[in-house]
Amino acid sequence: MTRVFNFGAGPAMLPIDVMEKAQAEFLDYKNMGASVIEISHRSKEFDEIINRTDAMLSELANIPSNYKILYVHGGAQMQFSAIPLNIINRNPARKASFILTGTWAVKASKEASRYGIALDIASSGDSNFNYIPDFDSLTLDPESSYVHIVSNNTLYGTRWNSFPNTGEIPLIADMTSEFMSRKIDISQFGIIFAGLQKNLGPAGLAVVIIREDLLEYALPETPGLLNYKTYAEQHSLANTNNTFAIYMMSLVMEWLADNGGVEKMEEKNEAKAKLIYDYIDSTDFYFGTAKPAHRSIMNVTFNLASEDLLDNFLEQAETNSLYALKGHRAVGGARASIYNAMPMAGCEALVNFMQGFEEKNG
Ligand SMILES: Cc1ncc(COP(=O)(O)O)c(C=O)c1O
Repeated sequence: MTRVFNFGAGPAMLPIDVMEKAQAEFLDYKNMGASVIEISHRSKEFDEIINRTDAMLSELANIPSNYKILYVHGGAQMQFSAIPLNIINRNPARKASFILTGTWAVKASKEASRYGIALDIASSGDSNFNYIPDFDSLTLDPESSYVHIVSNNTLYGTRWNSFPNTGEIPLIADMTSEFMSRKIDISQFGIIFAGLQKNLGPAGLAVVIIREDLLEYALPETPGLLNYKTYAEQHSLANTNNTFAIYMMSLVMEWLADNGGVEKMEEKNEAKAKLIYDYIDSTDFYFGTAKPAHRSIMNVTFNLASEDLLDNFLEQAETNSLYALKGHRAVGGARASIYNAMPMAGCEALVNFMQGFEEKNG
């Protein structure tokens, strides 16, 4: 079997060790004679899995004790509805503020406007979201129930290097495409959420880390299975949760711990991204599409100076086992998503290929 280097933005590469362990255990979990996907979410074996996932995530991400970990249905976008339903009522004015750094932030703002007033307080839309806009906390409407940001912008290849200070107003971050890839001070945030499908496991489920005091504001019409309090009170098991995704996440957490934790991962991710950016910056054949000061270390967006060579570039990359490098249509060009599971060897293979392609076509 030949495995490719998969640069897709998500669902994305998972560590091979994780998938091999899942494969080895798949038919017979811990000598039960049954698969992990066949056992009850209320069994003691699953209880052990979810407790272990919580414990490892808490330790690896250094989650303070006044935060709850929830495993919420529907992936990241479902949280665009759940968050206003749960928090917009924190202030009876029902306002929420959004910093627009890309499509996912815009979508979250639109969704919140179904439940209250969504205030778009800063945007980099004037330049197709290729930078993180300045934000002046003094302009923040004090009646905002929360401020929503997207910490890493998957489509555009930008990220917040440091996070805005929103004072007493809870800061909520969509960290879907970077959670566990760099060290984060959780206490800066009211809520962090991430769909699993980049750095954590399979798609369809989101992990939500919420400060406990924010569990008290759900609108009365909030569906039970979108109410964060339901998840907090019933350990995310009010109904049959996605047990397989939680199990896979437990294996990813073990892999992270075995590989030096988030600190080591951040070092590796910095080095991987630097290798590609340095090469792009060293030639006129390619150019980066995000402003250098705001470049992501998870999603490297770039293009070819002669864009008519792009299709050929992408096609040849695939024949060289460098898979899914096509950029999102919102930006065009190419994008290398280099999440935690992408080894340095994958980034080296990409740069070698880019060099060779330039030599032939430059
Ligand atoms: C930053 C960000 N937010 C939200 C989403 C949507 O995730 P989901 O498909 O799990 O709803 C994505 C998906 O790529 C994303 O990158």
